[in-house]
Amino acid sequence: MNIKFSGVTKIFKPDIVAVRDIDIEIKRGEFVYIIGATGSGKSTLLHMITRETLPTKGSVSVDNLNLKNMKDREIPYYRRDVGVVAQDFKLISSLTVFENIAFVMETMSVPPNLVKYRAEKVIDQVGLRRRKNMRPLQLSGGEQQRVAIARALANTPSLFIADEPTGNLDYHTSDDIMKILMSINVSGVTIVMSTHNQSIVDTYRQRVIEMSQGRVVRDEPGGGYFAQ
Ligand SMILES: Nc1ncnc2c1ncn2[C@@H]1O[C@H](COP(=O)(O)OP(=O)(O)OP(=O)(O)O)[C@@H](O)[C@H]1O
Ligand SMILES: [Mg+2]
Repeated sequence: MNIKFSGVTKIFKPDIVAVRDIDIEIKRGEFVYIIGATGSGKSTLLHMITRETLPTKGSVSVDNLNLKNMKDREIPYYRRDVGVVAQDFKLISSLTVFENIAFVMETMSVPPNLVKYRAEKVIDQVGLRRRKNMRPLQLSGGEQQRVAIARALANTPSLFIADEPTGNLDYHTSDDIMKILMSINVSGVTIVMSTHNQSIVDTYRQRVIEMSQGRVVRDEPGGGYFAQ
Protein backbone atom coordinates (compact mmCIF):
# COMPACT_ATOMS: atom_id res chain seq x y z
CA MET A 1 0.00 0.00 0.00
CA ASN A 2 1.10 3.55 -0.73
CA ILE A 3 0.48 6.01 2.06
CA LYS A 4 0.51 9.75 1.50
CA PHE A 5 0.20 12.56 4.06
CA SER A 6 -0.45 15.95 2.47
CA GLY A 7 -0.42 19.02 4.69
CA VAL A 8 -1.71 17.07 7.67
CA THR A 9 -2.42 18.80 10.95
CA LYS A 10 -4.26 17.23 13.85
CA ILE A 11 -5.60 19.41 16.62
CA PHE A 12 -7.27 17.83 19.62
CA LYS A 13 -9.84 19.88 21.46
CA PRO A 14 -9.47 22.50 22.66
CA ASP A 15 -6.08 23.41 21.20
CA ILE A 16 -3.53 20.59 21.43
CA VAL A 17 -1.66 20.43 18.15
CA ALA A 18 -0.58 16.79 18.05
CA VAL A 19 0.91 16.86 14.53
CA ARG A 20 1.52 19.80 12.26
CA ASP A 21 2.05 20.26 8.50
CA ILE A 22 3.03 16.68 7.74
CA ASP A 23 3.98 15.83 4.14
CA ILE A 24 5.31 12.31 3.79
CA GLU A 25 4.91 9.46 1.40
CA ILE A 26 5.50 5.82 2.28
CA LYS A 27 5.76 3.51 -0.67
CA ARG A 28 4.59 -0.06 -0.93
CA GLY A 29 7.13 -2.43 0.59
CA GLU A 30 9.01 0.20 2.59
CA PHE A 31 10.13 -0.21 6.20
CA VAL A 32 9.85 3.02 8.16
CA TYR A 33 10.69 3.88 11.75
CA ILE A 34 8.85 6.76 13.40
CA ILE A 35 10.95 8.07 16.24
CA GLY A 36 10.82 11.08 18.55
CA ALA A 37 10.25 12.08 22.16
CA THR A 38 7.16 11.19 24.15
CA GLY A 39 4.27 13.36 22.98
CA SER A 40 5.90 14.23 19.64
CA GLY A 41 2.96 12.81 17.67
CA LYS A 42 4.04 9.30 16.66
CA SER A 43 0.90 7.46 17.76
CA THR A 44 -1.30 10.19 16.32
CA LEU A 45 0.41 9.70 12.96
CA LEU A 46 -0.17 5.93 13.10
CA HIS A 47 -3.80 6.38 14.16
CA MET A 48 -4.40 8.44 11.05
CA ILE A 49 -3.11 5.60 8.88
CA THR A 50 -5.44 3.10 10.55
CA ARG A 51 -8.25 5.65 10.32
CA GLU A 52 -8.87 5.68 14.03
CA THR A 53 -8.27 9.43 13.78
CA LEU A 54 -9.05 11.83 10.92
CA PRO A 55 -6.86 14.89 10.27
CA THR A 56 -8.13 18.35 11.20
CA LYS A 57 -6.45 19.73 8.08
CA GLY A 58 -4.93 18.06 5.02
CA SER A 59 -5.38 14.51 3.83
CA VAL A 60 -4.12 11.00 4.39
CA SER A 61 -4.48 8.79 1.32
CA VAL A 62 -3.91 5.11 0.95
CA ASP A 63 -3.46 3.93 -2.63
CA ASN A 64 -4.84 7.30 -3.74
CA LEU A 65 -8.02 6.97 -1.70
CA ASN A 66 -8.46 9.80 0.80
CA LEU A 67 -9.28 7.95 4.03
CA LYS A 68 -11.72 10.70 4.94
CA ASN A 69 -13.83 9.72 1.94
CA MET A 70 -13.79 6.03 2.75
CA LYS A 71 -17.34 4.82 3.31
CA ASP A 72 -18.24 3.28 6.65
CA ARG A 73 -18.89 -0.08 5.06
CA GLU A 74 -15.46 0.00 3.39
CA ILE A 75 -13.54 0.53 6.61
CA PRO A 76 -13.61 -3.11 7.79
CA TYR A 77 -12.29 -4.25 4.40
CA TYR A 78 -9.47 -1.77 4.63
CA ARG A 79 -8.59 -2.77 8.19
CA ARG A 80 -8.60 -6.44 7.21
CA ASP A 81 -5.52 -5.73 5.17
CA VAL A 82 -3.76 -3.77 7.90
CA GLY A 83 -2.12 -5.56 10.82
CA VAL A 84 -2.02 -3.31 13.89
CA VAL A 85 -0.13 -3.64 17.14
CA ALA A 86 -1.43 -0.79 19.30
CA GLN A 87 0.67 0.78 22.04
CA ASP A 88 -1.91 -0.42 24.54
CA PHE A 89 -2.40 -3.78 22.85
CA LYS A 90 -5.38 -5.43 24.45
CA LEU A 91 -5.64 -9.18 24.75
CA ILE A 92 -8.85 -10.80 25.87
CA SER A 93 -8.10 -12.16 29.33
CA SER A 94 -10.61 -15.02 29.21
CA LEU A 95 -9.15 -16.43 25.99
CA THR A 96 -5.97 -18.45 25.51
CA VAL A 97 -3.09 -17.33 23.31
CA PHE A 98 -4.43 -19.46 20.46
CA GLU A 99 -7.99 -18.18 20.93
CA ASN A 100 -6.90 -14.54 21.08
CA ILE A 101 -5.24 -14.95 17.71
CA ALA A 102 -8.01 -17.06 16.18
CA PHE A 103 -10.72 -14.69 17.38
CA VAL A 104 -9.83 -11.85 15.01
CA MET A 105 -9.85 -14.16 12.01
CA GLU A 106 -13.12 -15.74 13.10
CA THR A 107 -14.81 -12.33 13.19
CA MET A 108 -13.70 -12.00 9.56
CA SER A 109 -15.24 -15.34 8.62
CA VAL A 110 -11.95 -17.02 7.78
CA PRO A 111 -12.65 -20.78 7.41
CA PRO A 112 -11.81 -22.75 10.60
CA ASN A 113 -9.05 -24.90 9.11
CA LEU A 114 -7.30 -21.80 7.76
CA VAL A 115 -7.70 -20.06 11.14
CA LYS A 116 -5.98 -23.00 12.82
CA TYR A 117 -3.19 -23.15 10.25
CA ARG A 118 -2.43 -19.43 10.39
CA ALA A 119 -2.70 -19.19 14.16
CA GLU A 120 -0.27 -22.09 14.65
CA LYS A 121 2.10 -20.55 12.16
CA VAL A 122 2.28 -17.10 13.76
CA ILE A 123 2.47 -18.60 17.26
CA ASP A 124 5.57 -20.51 16.10
CA GLN A 125 6.94 -17.39 14.44
CA VAL A 126 6.90 -15.44 17.71
CA GLY A 127 8.20 -18.41 19.69
CA LEU A 128 5.16 -19.08 21.85
CA ARG A 129 4.31 -22.66 20.94
CA ARG A 130 4.56 -23.82 24.55
CA ARG A 131 2.32 -20.96 25.74
CA LYS A 132 -0.39 -21.61 23.18
CA ASN A 133 -3.04 -22.72 25.66
CA MET A 134 -2.27 -20.20 28.39
CA ARG A 135 -4.24 -17.07 29.14
CA PRO A 136 -2.77 -13.55 29.14
CA LEU A 137 -2.50 -13.33 32.94
CA GLN A 138 -0.28 -16.41 32.91
CA LEU A 139 2.14 -14.72 30.53
CA SER A 140 4.90 -12.17 31.10
CA GLY A 141 4.48 -8.67 29.66
CA GLY A 142 6.88 -9.46 26.84
CA GLU A 143 5.07 -12.67 26.01
CA GLN A 144 1.76 -10.80 25.88
CA GLN A 145 3.35 -8.33 23.52
CA ARG A 146 4.42 -11.16 21.25
CA VAL A 147 0.84 -12.46 21.21
CA ALA A 148 -0.29 -9.01 20.06
CA ILE A 149 2.28 -9.13 17.26
CA ALA A 150 1.22 -12.64 16.25
CA ARG A 151 -2.40 -11.53 16.22
CA ALA A 152 -1.57 -8.65 13.87
CA LEU A 153 0.35 -10.95 11.54
CA ALA A 154 -2.25 -13.70 11.45
CA ASN A 155 -4.39 -12.17 8.76
CA THR A 156 -1.41 -11.80 6.37
CA PRO A 157 -1.79 -8.02 6.06
CA SER A 158 -0.10 -6.02 3.30
CA LEU A 159 0.51 -3.15 5.74
CA PHE A 160 1.80 -3.66 9.27
CA ILE A 161 1.52 -0.78 11.76
CA ALA A 162 3.25 -1.27 15.08
CA ASP A 163 3.29 1.27 17.89
CA GLU A 164 6.37 0.46 19.96
CA PRO A 165 6.18 -3.29 19.39
CA THR A 166 9.34 -3.88 21.43
CA GLY A 167 8.31 -1.56 24.26
CA ASN A 168 8.42 -4.16 27.04
CA LEU A 169 10.94 -6.53 25.57
CA ASP A 170 14.54 -7.24 26.46
CA TYR A 171 17.34 -7.02 23.95
CA HIS A 172 17.17 -10.59 22.67
CA THR A 173 13.40 -10.72 22.36
CA SER A 174 13.36 -7.35 20.60
CA ASP A 175 15.93 -8.70 18.23
CA ASP A 176 13.81 -11.78 17.54
CA ILE A 177 10.79 -9.58 16.85
CA MET A 178 12.83 -7.43 14.47
CA LYS A 179 13.94 -10.52 12.58
CA ILE A 180 10.28 -11.46 12.13
CA LEU A 181 9.42 -7.94 10.94
CA MET A 182 12.38 -7.88 8.54
CA SER A 183 11.33 -11.21 7.08
CA ILE A 184 7.72 -10.15 6.50
CA ASN A 185 9.01 -6.90 4.99
CA VAL A 186 11.18 -8.88 2.58
CA SER A 187 8.04 -10.74 1.53
CA GLY A 188 6.56 -7.38 0.45
CA VAL A 189 4.67 -6.15 3.52
CA THR A 190 4.93 -2.40 4.18
CA ILE A 191 5.97 -1.73 7.78
CA VAL A 192 5.60 1.43 9.79
CA MET A 193 6.71 1.19 13.39
CA SER A 194 7.21 3.75 16.11
CA THR A 195 10.00 3.09 18.54
CA HIS A 196 12.21 4.48 21.29
CA ASN A 197 14.63 1.60 20.83
CA GLN A 198 17.95 3.07 19.77
CA SER A 199 19.81 -0.19 19.35
CA ILE A 200 17.13 -1.60 17.03
CA VAL A 201 17.14 1.50 14.83
CA ASP A 202 20.93 1.56 14.69
CA THR A 203 21.23 -2.18 14.01
CA TYR A 204 18.46 -2.67 11.45
CA ARG A 205 18.98 0.40 9.30
CA GLN A 206 15.84 1.62 7.59
CA ARG A 207 14.20 4.90 6.72
CA VAL A 208 13.88 7.06 9.83
CA ILE A 209 11.19 9.70 10.23
CA GLU A 210 11.90 11.75 13.33
CA MET A 211 9.16 13.82 14.93
CA SER A 212 9.54 16.71 17.32
CA GLN A 213 6.60 18.64 18.74
CA GLY A 214 4.32 17.35 16.00
CA ARG A 215 6.60 18.12 13.08
CA VAL A 216 8.80 15.90 10.95
CA VAL A 217 12.32 17.13 11.68
CA ARG A 218 14.23 14.40 9.83
CA ASP A 219 13.40 11.91 7.10
CA GLU A 220 16.47 9.87 6.30
CA PRO A 221 16.89 6.61 4.38
CA GLY A 222 19.03 4.14 6.34
CA GLY A 223 19.35 6.66 9.16
CA GLY A 224 20.45 6.01 12.74
CA TYR A 225 18.58 6.88 15.90
CA PHE A 226 20.45 10.16 16.21
CA ALA A 227 21.01 12.58 13.35
CA GLN A 228 24.61 12.75 12.11
N1 LIG B 1 -7.20 11.77 22.07
C1 LIG B 1 -6.44 12.80 22.41
N2 LIG B 1 -6.98 13.90 22.98
C2 LIG B 1 -6.23 14.97 23.32
N3 LIG B 1 -4.90 15.02 23.15
C3 LIG B 1 -4.29 13.96 22.61
C4 LIG B 1 -5.02 12.79 22.21
N4 LIG B 1 -4.14 11.89 21.68
C5 LIG B 1 -2.93 12.48 21.75
N5 LIG B 1 -3.02 13.71 22.30
C6 LIG B 1 -1.91 14.66 22.51
O1 LIG B 1 -1.19 14.78 21.31
C7 LIG B 1 0.21 14.82 21.54
C8 LIG B 1 0.90 13.71 20.76
O2 LIG B 1 0.53 12.45 21.34
P1 LIG B 1 0.99 11.05 20.75
O3 LIG B 1 0.27 10.00 21.50
O4 LIG B 1 0.84 11.07 19.29
O5 LIG B 1 2.56 11.05 21.13
P2 LIG B 1 3.64 9.91 20.96
O6 LIG B 1 4.75 10.50 20.15
O7 LIG B 1 3.02 8.67 20.47
O8 LIG B 1 4.18 9.70 22.44
P3 LIG B 1 4.70 8.36 23.20
O9 LIG B 1 6.13 8.19 22.79
O10 LIG B 1 4.59 8.75 24.65
O11 LIG B 1 3.82 7.22 22.84
C9 LIG B 1 0.38 14.73 23.05
O12 LIG B 1 0.56 16.03 23.54
C10 LIG B 1 -0.93 14.14 23.52
O13 LIG B 1 -1.23 14.57 24.81
MG1 LIG C 1 2.72 6.81 21.29
